[in-house]
Formats: sequence, C-alpha cells, structure tokens
Amino acid sequence: AYSLAVQGACHEVILRDNKVEIAKGKALDMSQAAQSIRSHTVVSVAETMADLKDCDVVVVTAGSPRLPGMSRDDLLLTNAKIMKEVAQGIKEYSSEAIVLVVSNPLDAMVYVAIKETGFPPHRVLGMAGVLDSARMAHFIHEELGYGAGQIRASVMGGHGDDMVPLPRYSTVAGIPITDLLTPGELYEIVENTKNGGAQIVKLLGTSAYFAPGKATAIIVEAILKDSKKIYPCSTLLEGEYGYNDITNGVPVMLGRNGIEKIIELDLDDETKSKFKVSVDSIQEGIDILNTKNFF
Ligand code: LAC
Repeated sequence: AYSLAVQGACHEVILRDNKVEIAKGKALDMSQAAQSIRSHTVVSVAETMADLKDCDVVVVTAGSPRLPGMSRDDLLLTNAKIMKEVAQGIKEYSSEAIVLVVSNPLDAMVYVAIKETGFPPHRVLGMAGVLDSARMAHFIHEELGYGAGQIRASVMGGHGDDMVPLPRYSTVAGIPITDLLTPGELYEIVENTKNGGAQIVKLLGTSAYFAPGKATAIIVEAILKDSKKIYPCSTLLEGEYGYNDITNGVPVMLGRNGIEKIIELDLDDETKSKFKVSVDSIQEGIDILNTKNFF
C-alpha cells in the first residue's frame, strides 16, 4: 500500500485489517507520505469487508505470517481458512475485482482464492516470481560485484523451497549470466534465491516487507495501467506446461483483465523436471486440503 501510494499508481488505496486502529494509523501515515511527495493517492480504511466495495484490484496479504523455523507450508490450513473468509467477502462486495494473493503458502492460497471466489482464473493471481527474481538479482550482483540495476533475473515455479530460478533466462545488461559466472557460482545463486525469504525471516523474526511490497505494487500497477508487461506470477494452469487444475508460477502477460496470456517457455529437460517437483509439492498441499474436505 505504501509503495502504491508513493508511486502514484492509483488514486485510492483502502486498507482492511481486523486491527482497525492499526489500519487507521498506517493509513494516516501513508496518506501523509503521499502528500509530502505531492502524490494524488489517498489512503483510507475499510472497517468491514462491506466497505471494501467495487475495488478494481484487491491485494490479499491476510494470514498468519511465517515464524522462524516454519516453512510456508506449515501455514497451509490456518491460512486457507482465512483465505476462504476473505474470498467470500471479495466475491460479495467487489465481484469484478482482480485478486492478487500474497498470503502464504502462496500457490495453494491462489488455488483457494480461485475456488472460493469462483472468479475466472485470469482474475486471480499470486505475487511471488517478481519478488523471487528481485532476490535472485540481488544474489547475482553479490556474486559479480557489478551490474546493479542492469540485472534481469528469472524465476519460475512455486513460491517455496522448490522454486525454479532460471540462470539460462537471466542477464546483466543483456549478457547471459551463464557467460559470466561458473556453474558453482550459479548453483550458489540458485540456492541463495530459494532461501532468500527464510534468510530474512530468521533475521527479522517475521516476513520481509519492502521487497514483497514493492513487487506487489509493480503487479498492481501493470494491471491498472493495462501495460501488457510480462512478469512471473502464480496462476492456474489449464493445460499449459502439461498440467491441469493446479497453480504455479510462470511468466504471464498482465493487463486490465488480469492475466491476459500465459507464456510457455521451451524448457530443457532438467528445468522441466525441477518444475515438476515444484508442481508436485503444490499438489501435495491441495491434496491435504481435499482430504480435509476443505472445499
Ligand atoms: C517472502 C514472503 C512474502 O518470501 O513469502 O518474503
């Protein structure tokens, strides 16, 4: 919300939290920051879901955050219940909205949000790949020692321990990083990227804020501006990459209708098998929910 307010991406941002006083305090603080830079964005508070009416985009971060030592999957059931309640509210009060999920475990929460809103899958997506790619760019810079701001890193797969960083699709000023770094260095970058969220959880005692917030704002802006830009997002696969009725992170083209196109990369065999591991791990989570008659 703060990133959106200070980048002037939209006129109105509404915060909704069960802790209404905290939401009000943050809304005032953000609105005043927006005024300070002469941004036109006004930040207000919805005291109930009914006040979150006719939104263009609803970003859902609701859920218990990850605590130290906890995997994103540990959060599955707790957050699925919260997502169900939130999804029903969105369906009732903002039935035309595009829903951007940030809650963890991310890909499973996107799946729950699609099923519980009943919205067409192109209107429900998850933010992860933009964040994971930013983390990968950070680690590429750390390894190279140059090129900050010129790095385009690519990550696909789920937002979990099985995410699939893609060195072959990552460049510095257009130069493939595979030309600049050794296989050992690339391996380090991939492992650090996968661990990037947990590294911050360990240091802070809770989830990261700034990079997830900025990555989310980038996606919201791409949608509101109908930009047709390509970003990695979690989406429902319906035949793409050979999978059906499962969510995972793939490059998508974003516009006013949400996900307007899913881009299918021609993956080599090694990447295909890593992607399969990621899809299977998301499926395990969905299977747990099905076994518990969650839907
Ligand atoms: C992270 C949380 C937002 O990776 O999933 O920091």
